[in-house]
Amino acid sequence: MLARRDSLSSGLKLGARLTAGSVVEALLGREGHALAGSSAKGATAILGRNSLKAHASAQGLFVGAAVNLKLLRSEPNCACTLAEQHNMVVAESAMKWDHLRPAPDHFSFDEADELVVFAESHKMEIRGHNFVWHEELPAWFANTVTKENARKFLTDHIMTVGRRYKGKIHSWDVVNEAILPKDGRPDGLRKSPWFEVLGADYIEIAFRAARQADPHALLTYNDYGVEYDNEENDQRRALILQLMRRLKAANVPLDAVGIQSHSKAGSPYPIGKGLRDFMASAREMGLQIYLTELDVNEDDLPFNDVAQRDRAVADVYRDYLTTALSEPAVKAVVTWGISDRHTWLNNGPTHKRKQPNRPQRSLPFDDNYQPTDAFFAMGESFDARNTSGEG
Ligand code: G3I
Repeated sequence: MLARRDSLSSGLKLGARLTAGSVVEALLGREGHALAGSSAKGATAILGRNSLKAHASAQGLFVGAAVNLKLLRSEPNCACTLAEQHNMVVAESAMKWDHLRPAPDHFSFDEADELVVFAESHKMEIRGHNFVWHEELPAWFANTVTKENARKFLTDHIMTVGRRYKGKIHSWDVVNEAILPKDGRPDGLRKSPWFEVLGADYIEIAFRAARQADPHALLTYNDYGVEYDNEENDQRRALILQLMRRLKAANVPLDAVGIQSHSKAGSPYPIGKGLRDFMASAREMGLQIYLTELDVNEDDLPFNDVAQRDRAVADVYRDYLTTALSEPAVKAVVTWGISDRHTWLNNGPTHKRKQPNRPQRSLPFDDNYQPTDAFFAMGESFDARNTSGEG
């Protein structure tokens, strides 16, 4: 009964853009779950004190999810689940350049503003993602941004966006995915469009502008490929640490590192010493750590049975979080999406997936926003957090 009351009250507080009609639908949807409840777990065991955010906040952690603004508007279960389960949110795309910059002299803030209103009305922290990335640049970028004007484009963008949301953002991913060893540079920097016009300085320029725009947001360097014990990740970890040390030595305002955490079920590589050492080095530099894009790619699992796959995926969540949360500098766990229905792993052409006829089950909620084994693995991992360095 308590769980149902919690569901109703959070449904009634939905963000401004949801109409009364859709709120009613949302509530009916949740009650429908509860009554039809494909599992007893799904009906009663996930709300209120059993929610992800209750488990996380008991450990001083934020738990968040990336959300697509079109879904937040159109799927009541997306909004309900986000608000019921999470105390942090990040836009999956709405704060990227392509979305904010339809033209060189024009900003479009509708979706980003909506996310901020939603988050504030549900008392959720907001991660900003991102100021600088080699992807999702607008089509006009290539023939408009030059060596001569790039610095101004970059700082104007960060000042305009950062100031608009000043005081409202927990942390900004200021620079995303700047390391790519195969580009062949000794410092490992990716030859991204920003690198091509500004050289290595673009990173420092971006962090300094971000601090000026919003002095309270925690400024984050975010990257992938640091999770596993293998040669490729060893190299990436070393280069990322080298970059962050260089920034710190130059008094660049860097507060945190984001470990994307796109993980894999059936990976031949363990998660362990490499990740632990990386996190300890980041802590010693005075950085906070966020797990920013957690999900589990299960394309390689050699069986189709859903229950078996769900257990394998949950095992990865449990193993990964047990290792990552043993590091006291980890302050937030954010999944890259909410429901399997919309994970980026199922987007794009199916022929590019290893299992074109088998949509991935990668997130804590399935296609119908029912909790999967991964949901319970997350809660259990939060409960079991042990930062003593033992076990
Ligand atoms: O919004 C347009 C829509 O108007 C159009 O009809 C549709 C047709 O393809 O495209 C829509 O844009 C798509 C956008 O997602 C919003 O759904 C883009 O094509 C698509 O490329 C974009 O993909 C996103 C990708 O980043 C590139 O921005 C994924 O959803 C998002 O999950 C992914 O997220 C990245 C992180 O930012 C960084 N780390 C890796 C992670 C996964 O790739």
